[in-house]
Amino acid sequence: MFFQKETERFVIKTLIEEDVGQEYLSWFNQKNVKDYIYYKLNEHDRFEDLKRYVAEKSKDKDVIFLGVFNKDNIKEHIGNIKFEPVDVVNKTAVVGILIGNEKWRGKGVGGEALDGAHSIIRNLGVVKVFLGVEKTNDKAIRLYERCGYEYDESNYLKLDLDQCYCMFKILK
Ligand SMILES: CC(C)(COP(=O)(O)OP(=O)(O)OC[C@H]1O[C@@H](n2cnc3c(N)ncnc32)[C@H](O)[C@@H]1OP(=O)(O)O)[C@@H](O)C(=O)NCCC(=O)NCCS
Repeated sequence: MFFQKETERFVIKTLIEEDVGQEYLSWFNQKNVKDYIYYKLNEHDRFEDLKRYVAEKSKDKDVIFLGVFNKDNIKEHIGNIKFEPVDVVNKTAVVGILIGNEKWRGKGVGGEALDGAHSIIRNLGVVKVFLGVEKTNDKAIRLYERCGYEYDESNYLKLDLDQCYCMFKILK
């Protein structure tokens, strides 16, 4: 299924293989991305590997993988938000976010993009979104708190609580 949602500054839409470009590839060289994003590209074949990864996710019915693009320049790829897995039966999803485009740092992209992505997933019936965040990732924690995420004492995601926080948000 193809999803699309416009926010004030962005178009948030299902990420497809054709969206994989040098901009997206370059995010994997950034330190904060290496530290906090677990997908490791195959070093011999980075571009093709990333395309394969996106193609696989776009076919997976339990995944909603969204790209964030500049509304005024739709080819400009700014970041991604991935819900994986999406469980429509239990009305839950697990979210991850990567705002890789350095030109857009410090501009509140994360909050606006998450709001748009939440509305896509809410329309599918999902009412509770979980995430895991490393305790050292201050920027991400600030973002999630600003977006109304709370700390999940039940540790639904069974994370290592020495390293990470488990958080959740109820979608209204
Ligand atoms: C974590 C991450 C998603 C945050 O992205 P982001 O929300 O766009 O973060 P930015 O710092 O660029 O923007 C937020 C800042 O912009 C400021 N800002 C400027 N304009 C703003 C606006 N219109 N609305 C909200 N904030 C705005 C905020 O004050 C905020 O400052 P603060 O961080 O000092 O509180 C991003 O850093 C990232 O992708 N990191 C690598 C991957 C990662 O760690 N993912 C999370 C794994 S759990």
